[in-house]
Amino acid sequence: MKTIIIKIEEDHGNKEAIAQAGRIIREGGLVAFPTETVYGLGADALQPQAAEKIYAAKGRPSDNPLIVHICCMEDLARIVTEVPKQAELLAEKFWPGPLTMILKKSLCVPYETTGGLDTVAVRMPDHPTALALIRAGGGYIAAPSANTSGRPSPTLAEHVYEDMDGRIDMILDGGAVGIGIESTIVDLTEDVPVILRPGYISQEMLSDAVGEVRFDPAVLAADTGAKPKAPGMKYKHYAPKAEMLLVEGEAEKVTAKINELAARDISDGKKVGIIAAAETVDSYKEGVVLCIGGRQEEETIARNLYRLLREFDRRGVDMIYSESFSAPRMGQAIMNRLLKAAGHQVFRV
Ligand code: TXA
Ligand code: MG
Repeated sequence: MKTIIIKIEEDHGNKEAIAQAGRIIREGGLVAFPTETVYGLGADALQPQAAEKIYAAKGRPSDNPLIVHICCMEDLARIVTEVPKQAELLAEKFWPGPLTMILKKSLCVPYETTGGLDTVAVRMPDHPTALALIRAGGGYIAAPSANTSGRPSPTLAEHVYEDMDGRIDMILDGGAVGIGIESTIVDLTEDVPVILRPGYISQEMLSDAVGEVRFDPAVLAADTGAKPKAPGMKYKHYAPKAEMLLVEGEAEKVTAKINELAARDISDGKKVGIIAAAETVDSYKEGVVLCIGGRQEEETIARNLYRLLREFDRRGVDMIYSESFSAPRMGQAIMNRLLKAAGHQVFRV
């Protein structure tokens, strides 16, 4: 299959490109598109065969459900059996935006889209290209992140191209995404909302709107024994090709430990990558050292994370050492991704 790539210029309307992409979706094809979080791999959410194509292109297990993207509130009623009060409040406050809500699905949503579940994940993305495509494609676009299963999510169209060239019909290139990590997922099918995946919208922001909000115990658990309620969270996700270890503790001890481990690996003939904060980046003498941003600049850290992991892949590093980050709002979301990339390997100094 030849993958068409179209650059979307802001301020230009891009009517023809969007119309063509919408046609592909309605005819059951696959279009990758930018959102404010990461690039998505879109197909018509209401066509069972379209969802199957997504699984095939990603190499993704078909028990892992997809998020259905909508472009306006009026379209929600058709795909769910009820909209609880809390969901209404959250939609009002955070949609369009990086929040996905789990609701009870209606009959028109095929089990192929929900991985066999009776619930459906719904999100209204905050990105003009995404919203225009959803409208042109018929209103309901199922879209996982547009990476090959197990690789870091794409934050640039180039990342989508790396993973999906020849496997999908079209890529809409809207440049770099704004946030860089996937949406917060909150389950609203029980009395108290439960966060299944942390993201830009924090627990505090959610509870300001609807009161008590819990965390799925599996979210930050180091032992992977706890079974996560979002099926996708059980896989070793976001993984770079290299092995990765997180080093946690006081800054000076962390840099000393990473320098020691890196020197050992390098003398063993390995290529080493290091993820460092701006404050400590100059403390590393050897290896491929990449700066993820200032410790207090959590938005920068989130935006750089997946790009850095892919950069290490490109440079063929065998081992990655990363500092850990506890940014105030998105810290949990950032650490959740880093922990998964590292397969929960953490060294405390
Ligand atoms: O920011 C995002 O959410 C991006 C962009 C493209 O919108 N999408 C994304 O999709 O991250 P994906 O497929 O990579 O991750 C979806 C997660 C998976 O962990 C999946 O298991 C979970 O959502 N999920 C989907 N439907 C669910 C459901 N009905 N119940 C529980 N978890 C669900
Ligand atoms: Mg994903």
